Amino acid sequence: MKLTAPRGMNDVLPDDAPAWLKLEQAVRDACRRFGYEEIRTPVLEHTKLFQRGVGETTDIVEKQMFTLSAREEAEEDTLTLRPEITAPVVRSMIEHDLLKQRGFWKLYYFGPAFRKERPQKGRYRQFHQFGIEAIGAKEPLVDVESILLFAEILRSVGVEKFEVRFNSIGCETCRPAYRDSVQKAARSKLDRFCPDCKRRIDRNILRLFDCKIEGCKAAAKDLPSIKLCGPCADHDQRIRRSLGSSLPLRVDPTLVRGLDYYTQTVYEFASPLLGAQDALGGGGRYNNLVKELSGGEYDAGAVGFAAGVERVLIAMEASRGAPPEPPGLDFYAVAVDESQRQALFGVVSRLRAAGLSGTMDFEGRSLKAQMRSADKLRARVAVILGPDEAARGVVKLKNLRAQGDAREQEVKIDDVATKLRGA
Ligand code: HAM
Repeated sequence: MKLTAPRGMNDVLPDDAPAWLKLEQAVRDACRRFGYEEIRTPVLEHTKLFQRGVGETTDIVEKQMFTLSAREEAEEDTLTLRPEITAPVVRSMIEHDLLKQRGFWKLYYFGPAFRKERPQKGRYRQFHQFGIEAIGAKEPLVDVESILLFAEILRSVGVEKFEVRFNSIGCETCRPAYRDSVQKAARSKLDRFCPDCKRRIDRNILRLFDCKIEGCKAAAKDLPSIKLCGPCADHDQRIRRSLGSSLPLRVDPTLVRGLDYYTQTVYEFASPLLGAQDALGGGGRYNNLVKELSGGEYDAGAVGFAAGVERVLIAMEASRGAPPEPPGLDFYAVAVDESQRQALFGVVSRLRAAGLSGTMDFEGRSLKAQMRSADKLRARVAVILGPDEAARGVVKLKNLRAQGDAREQEVKIDDVATKLRGA
């Protein structure tokens, strides 16, 4: 059997890696400028975390989790590959009592997540998310800041074509009446919904808005919108006023998002540069999750988003055309014959210790083949050592980016690093 990566899980090959690095650096840079600190959590968590955090009746928990039955784990205590990173971050904050040290934390992450979905362009079983979580404040300006940071990251990597879908799904005061009214309206046109949605009407009514089936989408458009309570309406207005026209904002009363922890603000960044999976990322406020996961020990308002790295990369490529060139090497060291290999390895080590990047041939190949490798790896200079040079304590430097006579010169081994740094 030919060995392949598991379905929906991709390799990032060297040619693709520079674009990943560019995005990761842009994320880190923007997060740092906005005052966010990095957090890293394990890829495996207790399954219960997602059942309680994301919600038992969400698609993610019902259908999409990779759950391991590690033998030492009790039946009811299995481990799951994280399908998202918000619940793990909140779990970590509670476990390490971070909120006792400081009342407000701004955290970011960049890493893999896993969902057992049917793979297609922009939808994978192992994908990557970068995201932020601002935990400990209910102030609407934090929601605004999270949206501006997302936009800032996209723009910094050249993705300008996006729209922000925005909605408020209220709180425990206004949502029950909303749920009731949607339930009543949906029951009155039951035959327009698919069997899954019919189940959702009783189990988790707002999931009705997530159904991807055309008939259900059309029926959902006719369902009532939420009537926000005073504080939620105020929160919503302050965000919209503060964002003003700085972003292409589209208020979408049917946006509820696929996770149960949201309160008030929800938003999604969508781009026409993507195909059917057009969400670059999404997020919102989750004022009850910390309380819920800490069993009431902590109560902290929070807001955040996560973006799909692979999807942002698709949008980057569509925005730019050519992906960034992989970085070259400062040097490639070439042994004229086998007897110089050991000495050359010493030269290579010295150059690296001086902060230069480079490598050498380890396959005993001909001079010509070594020079070809130097080209392929985009080395700036070939450092050539033959028996004659070795005897005199020198190497030949050949500048691979210059033409004509200026290309070659002899340099003492002790001076190579200085020469290469200056070149
Ligand atoms: P989410 O909408 O489930 O939210 O995922 C965020 C983003 O991850 C999606 O918009 C998409 O770009 C990407 N994504 C999700 N599933 C896949 C997949 N199978 N393949 C490729 N990309 C995918 C969350 O995960 C929340 N934790 C966001 C959040 C943070 N809310 C508050 N804080």
